[in-house]
Amino acid sequence: MNLPCVVIGPDRVLTSQLLLAFKELGGIAVLRDLAQYPQDREAIRMVRSIAPKFICLDLSDKDRSFALIELLQSEFPGIQIAVFNETVEPQLLLKLMQHGIREYIAPPFEADQLAAVLIRLRDAALKHPITPSTTNFVYSFLPSKPGSGTTTLAINTAVAMSKYPDANSLLMDLDLNSGLVRFLLKLDNEHTILEAARHATAMDEALWSQLVCPVGNLDVIHTARITPGIRIEVEQARALIDYVRKQYKAICVDLSGNMERYSMEIMQESKSTFIVCTPEIPSLHLALEKFQFLKAEGLGEKVKFLLNRHSRSDLLQIEQIQNLLGAPVALTFANDYGGVSQAVADGKQIAPNSELGRQISAFAGQLLERAATAPDDKAKKKEIRGFGELFKFGASRIAQLSDSESNV
Ligand SMILES: Nc1ncnc2c1ncn2[C@@H]1O[C@H](COP(=O)(O)OP(=O)(O)OP(=O)(O)O)[C@@H](O)[C@H]1O
Ligand SMILES: [Mg+2]
Repeated sequence: MNLPCVVIGPDRVLTSQLLLAFKELGGIAVLRDLAQYPQDREAIRMVRSIAPKFICLDLSDKDRSFALIELLQSEFPGIQIAVFNETVEPQLLLKLMQHGIREYIAPPFEADQLAAVLIRLRDAALKHPITPSTTNFVYSFLPSKPGSGTTTLAINTAVAMSKYPDANSLLMDLDLNSGLVRFLLKLDNEHTILEAARHATAMDEALWSQLVCPVGNLDVIHTARITPGIRIEVEQARALIDYVRKQYKAICVDLSGNMERYSMEIMQESKSTFIVCTPEIPSLHLALEKFQFLKAEGLGEKVKFLLNRHSRSDLLQIEQIQNLLGAPVALTFANDYGGVSQAVADGKQIAPNSELGRQISAFAGQLLERAATAPDDKAKKKEIRGFGELFKFGASRIAQLSDSESNV
């Protein structure tokens, strides 16, 4: 497997020599080749989203490159950085050592020297994988068309995530046109996302705890009642995401689908953006339009499709839908009008033991990068086995029960 890396090389002559040497050596996948030092936020987003095993940094501008080293090391403890430059005087070597940079690649980039450096970097990266100091699990939910079930999936996924051990989660309602989250979860807190946005740059724990509504291990921040003309500034959205990343393990964001500037910013910050669509042609058509728009904005790699209200009797089969979208459907969710309506009536999550509930729970586990089995399923299987052991003589009846319940 190729070792993924990012090259940051404003000195283009030297950088092209290095790239050529990489190519001749083989085994390295250069995921990005940047001709300029990136801005701080751009650098952090890039490492978060593509997770390179190492960064190759040109030292031609000492101030910029050392500022970048410090930024990346504080944001991603353990990140492997190799540097290159035309020359390296003793003072520079000392400064590199003080910054914990041990790998200097010297021109003319001879194969033996390069191979030795790369082996050390690979081993170090394996031993100490990049661990971001803040969570990477920020997920945006975007409707292809109003009424696709985006809010339903965002709420239920966030609740399901919060049920996993050590997974305090946040649901942010950023659909300023709707305010449905507050109604669906029957929340009585008057504070809204607008206040959070207004105070985002100076947020602290005391204020934050007043703004959110706890629902078990999930915190929810809802939006105002419909107030035309209000908006959130990009800087506010950015500061809000920076703050919540430090406080939670996972964050789900419900978006309106109107592609406001703050929504674009949130999607830039997200690990994935889920476009929620249904198997109807208009929904799929708009899903494709949104996908193309996001691709043009440089967000195409983050987009995944969720097919909601899916049933085996749908007119269009999954293959046809995927052909239409020109991309795979990441997951499907069952059409369960009764189950969703019941959850709405109760102000609770969709029953975890229903087909849709299990799909959502498994999805939440995937987003948290946890084991495939949902916590509720595990508990239930244990319980059934326990019953089976207790009532040995009734085994056939118990077997029938568990078969029908686990009809996945
Ligand atoms: N899997 C499902 N099975 C059956 N009904 C569903 C399912 N998912 C959502 N619904 C229903 O679809 C309707 C729209 O859902 P929801 O409000 O979540 O969509 P949305 O995409 O957020 O819409 P909007 O664009 O208005 O914000 C609701 O009545 C909801 O109960
Ligand atoms: Mg919605």
